Amino acid sequence: MPSKRTRAWRAPGRVNIIGEHIDYLGGTVLPFACDLELVVSVSDSDHIDIRSVDADAAPYVRGVEEALHAHGLPIHPCSGDITSAIPVGAGLSSSAAIAAGLALALTRGRRVSPALLQDAEIRASGVRGGVMDQTAVLESRAGHALLLDCATGTFEHVAIPEEISFVVIDTGTRRELTDGRYAQRRAEVEAGHPMRRAHTDAEQRRVFDAVDAMRAGDAASLGALVGDSHASLRDNFEVSSPALDAAVTKAVARPGCTGARLVGAGFAGCVLAVVEAGAEQDFAAAFDTAYVVKAVDGAGPTRST
Ligand code: GLA
Repeated sequence: MPSKRTRAWRAPGRVNIIGEHIDYLGGTVLPFACDLELVVSVSDSDHIDIRSVDADAAPYVRGVEEALHAHGLPIHPCSGDITSAIPVGAGLSSSAAIAAGLALALTRGRRVSPALLQDAEIRASGVRGGVMDQTAVLESRAGHALLLDCATGTFEHVAIPEEISFVVIDTGTRRELTDGRYAQRRAEVEAGHPMRRAHTDAEQRRVFDAVDAMRAGDAASLGALVGDSHASLRDNFEVSSPALDAAVTKAVARPGCTGARLVGAGFAGCVLAVVEAGAEQDFAAAFDTAYVVKAVDGAGPTRST
């Protein structure tokens, strides 16, 4: 019998430099796809059976299948597994990466839209998120951040200057977006809650200032904006935690770090630190779990195939 052909697809996690909790309001955000990735390896089969060792992939398999059906795209049944280096529930969009990897596997590499992945995630988790994560996971370009207008879905690639490095610090704490706090914050800000609006209005201005700082290769200014974002997420949006605050305090006290903040929805997970290029390895070594992250291309075939 001929051996079955195996295909492998990679999907990256995402780091959001700045622009937190504004994507679902139609704001403009600045994420990038990072080199913490997952790989979906599959071969053709008469039924769909894709498993993951670190997470329950079943709801995502079902969600992606349903979303592909709903969008009229053909499905190629296959079986295989997902291996992931993206921590789950840590603010790095592991779920958007799973959805992207599965969509590639089940369509044999067809280009799907961020809206389809968003639909799949809502079907899988019931959480109504914005479109930032899915767009970053699909559309990012190596060495660049994605300046994404979430109202229109249009984007521009902004080069990450050589003066600036990014380090993700994992506090080891985890959250579930399904616990209701994300939906609660979203409902409050949509209803015009003054403190929540104070965060989102200022955060939007910081995104554009951050783009200027990136274009100028100015690690100090970018770090200051990222630090302001954390203070606002902590005090106005109230999505920080003691572990996240402690990691930010420790980060900004280290040499070369110009600013740090919680990344993603908040409540637990990871902190993103802006570090002057050259200082990032020593900086990362000061933490139990920290990754010097690079911006990579969006999801696609594995580089080796
Ligand atoms: C989660 C959601 C995103 C976004 C962020 C907060 O990652 O999936 O759509 O709302 O939280 O910026």
